[in-house]
Amino acid sequence: MSEELQVKSKQRVADHGEVFTAEREVKAMCDLVLNETERIDSRFLEPACGEGNFLCEILARKLEVVRRRYGKSAPDFEFYSLMALTSIYGVELLADNVAACQERLFDQWNTVYNAACRGDANEHAREIARLVLRKNILCGNALSLKRVDDCGQDLEEPIIFTEWGFIGTDVKRREFRLDVLLTLEGEEGLRENQTLSLFDDDPLCGDYWEIDPKTGVLIPKPIREFPPIYFKDIRE
Ligand SMILES: C[S@@+](CC[C@H](N)C(=O)[O-])C[C@H]1O[C@@H](n2cnc3c(N)ncnc32)[C@H](O)[C@@H]1O
Repeated sequence: MSEELQVKSKQRVADHGEVFTAEREVKAMCDLVLNETERIDSRFLEPACGEGNFLCEILARKLEVVRRRYGKSAPDFEFYSLMALTSIYGVELLADNVAACQERLFDQWNTVYNAACRGDANEHAREIARLVLRKNILCGNALSLKRVDDCGQDLEEPIIFTEWGFIGTDVKRREFRLDVLLTLEGEEGLRENQTLSLFDDDPLCGDYWEIDPKTGVLIPKPIREFPPIYFKDIRE
């Protein structure tokens, strides 16, 4: 679909409120958080991301910073451009939009990657980029925070996102439930005033929240962790 088309069909507008944001508004809104859009590793999550109009703009800004700083070194460009990609997250109800969003982000990354790395650009890095996009751009319901099927109906499965933490050139992957992340984000009091023992009756507590040993406050607990590995060794 052309990037300037804002509506695919009247039915989709009626059913899902699907009206994409025009480029001018996207840029103006991203300018409101200019510094963050230019930080390579600052994380962005867009619920209801459509085909990724906002996420593509954010990625473009981050990749431009990577190009300016690391464009002369193919290995550095590869590493930092992949880091930029890991920081972009989206949830979208409709499977065709998810696929389009992943494809647009991939094409955008790949175009800049090929231009910067030329002969050093390789299929392995492209596979990592595709894996990151499969993990970060998910088909789900941003209201129920559950995954959805191809018809947009809720599944039992919660939305789970991967945190890509960088330790030098190693990557530490941890997976979190989005509902847990959002509960804690929205209820600051939980962090400051309450301890894990207060939530012993809550079945979610033990499995999904833990006390930060440094600060003594509740933080989301990963539901899965991977040992740190060199970024080129990332596998499904
Ligand atoms: C107004 S459009 C905006 C798309 C994109 N954010 C943009 O600005 O171009 C809303 C999008 O939200 C999706 N959507 C509607 N309900 C949703 C829900 N409960 N969870 C996730 N996505 C939803 C629609 O499929 C549509 O792509």
